[in-house]
Amino acid sequence: MNSRTVADLLSQDITIPEVEIKGWVRTFRANRFIALNDGSTLQNIQCVVDFENFDEALLKKITTGAAIHVKGELVESLGKGQKVEIQVESLEILGESDPETYPIQPKKHSLEFLREQAHLRTRTNTFSAVMRLRSALSFAIHKYFNENGFYYMHTPIITGSDAEGAGEMFKVTNLDLDNVPKNDEGKTDYTKDFFGKETNLTVSGQLEAETYAMSLGKVYTFGPTFRAENSNTSRHLAEFWMIEPEVAFMDLPGNMDLAEDFMKYVLKYVLENNAEDLEFLDNRLQDEDKRKPQAERNPMTLIEKLKFVTDNNFMRVSYTEAIDILRNSKPNKKKKFQYLIEEWGTDLQSEHERFLVEKHFKCPVILFDYPANIKAFYMRLNDDGKTVRAMDILFPGIGEIVGGAQREERLEVLKQKMAAINIPEDELWWYLDLRKFGTAVHSGFGLGFERLVMFVTGMTNIRDVIPYPRTPQNAEF
Ligand code: 4AD
Ligand code: MG
Repeated sequence: MNSRTVADLLSQDITIPEVEIKGWVRTFRANRFIALNDGSTLQNIQCVVDFENFDEALLKKITTGAAIHVKGELVESLGKGQKVEIQVESLEILGESDPETYPIQPKKHSLEFLREQAHLRTRTNTFSAVMRLRSALSFAIHKYFNENGFYYMHTPIITGSDAEGAGEMFKVTNLDLDNVPKNDEGKTDYTKDFFGKETNLTVSGQLEAETYAMSLGKVYTFGPTFRAENSNTSRHLAEFWMIEPEVAFMDLPGNMDLAEDFMKYVLKYVLENNAEDLEFLDNRLQDEDKRKPQAERNPMTLIEKLKFVTDNNFMRVSYTEAIDILRNSKPNKKKKFQYLIEEWGTDLQSEHERFLVEKHFKCPVILFDYPANIKAFYMRLNDDGKTVRAMDILFPGIGEIVGGAQREERLEVLKQKMAAINIPEDELWWYLDLRKFGTAVHSGFGLGFERLVMFVTGMTNIRDVIPYPRTPQNAEF
């Protein structure tokens, strides 16, 4: 007897005398029709029970959420919306589910409520679709790099360096916090720590990825990264996953080409392979839109938006050009919305980014050549002495999705930049070594994985695209 998934069974055109399936009951109607889901697809398979043939006590246990094992015949279905169904011959309850206390009822729950039920929320269509897409995107990412000659590198999670130089790190220590040893200056003595120095959770694998790019040529990391920034927004997590390719002998325009090609590839992949989940999420958004005033509705459906990105070039605009556009744009007085930026050299706020992407260019935008003072120390200084070869990619509805740069490959310039922000040379001696021994132009970027999943699924809160979101107020699970 074949054990298959619901997805397999639903794709059958033929009747099969003996099949079996295990899954969780979504609904049980009229003491006769079980809608069974096993996570392999959004669809449920209908299992038809002739109640005369079954014990009443057993039927009572077929409740929403229960795990069951069904055996029977796969037959053509006369019901609407399904080609086949299972005529149940035997049924076993694997795990009961008390209908009084099971939190996931067969009705629409709010996303906020489901966030509190993170361990059960993938039993709903919305979250199972989102998480299947998350899995498919991960696969597509590895596939892209594999097909393009990149090596997958595992960068460390515990590290002594601050890759972004922004001081947003979670400390890692095994010191007894009730008895923290102090040095002569009264400061915590990390030499008494297990690692003999201050260590933290990585904010980015970039610096280590650079070392491997400078020997293996093309590498990427894809792993968890951590930021101790206290930002409670719908786009920030304390723990998020980042994809970071790094390539030797590649300059900034090459970096832009790589990022654009890569992002188009993974979007095409899910459009081709995950149509069912995408259509479901698309309909969900369109239903939501219907309840909104016209002005707030999405100009494109989810799938149209994904296709738009795969079929059109990203707009490449320098920071200086972007500032000019913002300066010359009319602030929306009615909404008291200021797009205006007074000074060259200030960082763009998310409202500026949104204006550029959603109102002005109406397509993904790659902003490059940012002022040096608002970007990280490792970025290649341009000949103007003021700007660096940085690039941020901005996406509609998301804002910044990618941050990257051509790296500073000149030893002296890098040392000066580190000194300017008090990064001791002996902390990054190995990073400086790369500039001493066979230095060369190289570049890379970091794509925030959850922001990509948000874009693909249309979910508007980052907490809804990662299984167990870590945010300043939430680490319950
Ligand atoms: O712009 P960021 O900070 O760049 C870096 O970390 C570089 N070292 C990457 C590189 O060049 N290899 O972060 C890269 C991306 C952002 O564009 C954003 O998509 C995402 O990571 N990101 C976050 N996502 C969720 N929550 C946060 N707190 C995030 N911070 C950054
Ligand atoms: Mg950034």
